[in-house]
Amino acid sequence: MRIITDPMELDQFRGCAFVPTMGALHDGHLSLIKKAKGFGLPVVLSVFVNPEQFSPDEDFERYPRNLEQDAAFAEGVGADMVFAPEVETMYPESPPEISLPLAATKPKLEDAFRPTHFRGVCLAVARLFDLVKPTYAIFGEKDYQQFLVIQQMVQNEQPRWKKLQAIGAPIIRDDDGLAMSSRNAFLSTDDRSQALAIHKALREPTEQKMFDLLDRHGLDVEYAVIRDEATLLQPVDGKPVRSLIAAKAGSVRLIDNNGLGLLP
Ligand code: PAJ
Repeated sequence: MRIITDPMELDQFRGCAFVPTMGALHDGHLSLIKKAKGFGLPVVLSVFVNPEQFSPDEDFERYPRNLEQDAAFAEGVGADMVFAPEVETMYPESPPEISLPLAATKPKLEDAFRPTHFRGVCLAVARLFDLVKPTYAIFGEKDYQQFLVIQQMVQNEQPRWKKLQAIGAPIIRDDDGLAMSSRNAFLSTDDRSQALAIHKALREPTEQKMFDLLDRHGLDVEYAVIRDEATLLQPVDGKPVRSLIAAKAGSVRLIDNNGLGLLP
């Protein structure tokens, strides 16, 4: 598997289907590569643990890194190339400012609890789009707000990335329902059994019931809400809604969400 760090070598992959990640690949990431394959274009995976999207109290230093294994996994599901840029390539000077889309500031979900996060995500993803110049970029609905932020950024920044489309892909879960995440490795056995309540709570019909179920299982709830699926603002009659949760099991912060369709 080719791992490149020099963006000059990306030229031959222009117009590819692109899967941006921070590495530590699991089946959730691999499902994005498989979806990318479906477009019939070369598939580029990026691995970059982006310092700009971690706040000082978050886990940047201990974020798992294993590039060789990631490249082998990616090759196994048909990726054509891994782009693993250096920080200097991603941020040659201090990062340029970018205007944040509404989904990054209005919902008061991830944006409220991680106030600098989406600025960092947008900086990295915008830079990656500039370098890779993909036709499709695939994002997991696991990070649903992030997916909307990127979709809106792509629209707002046109014609910067011309024909680029940001595509969403379904959440991949373990057999017990827990959404796959590289942070799951930090869960103790007790944390993990608490964490299973998240998947159940996402199917409750009201925010109060969601909160109560999580609370009963000992989770430390940051938000447990039902929102309009297109804007992540308050539900609107006749429009599909989505339940979203951020909660800590032990010291591990988990997020998950679920499309609920139309409210009765
Ligand atoms: P990372 O957390 O590595 O996730 C990379 C991609 O994998 C994201 O689109 C995420 O939503 C998706 N993903 C993670 N777990 C998933 C699961 N269980 N099912 C389906 N998709 C899943 O998200 C990031 O990296 C970064 O913010 C990034 C976009 C790369 C910018 O730095």
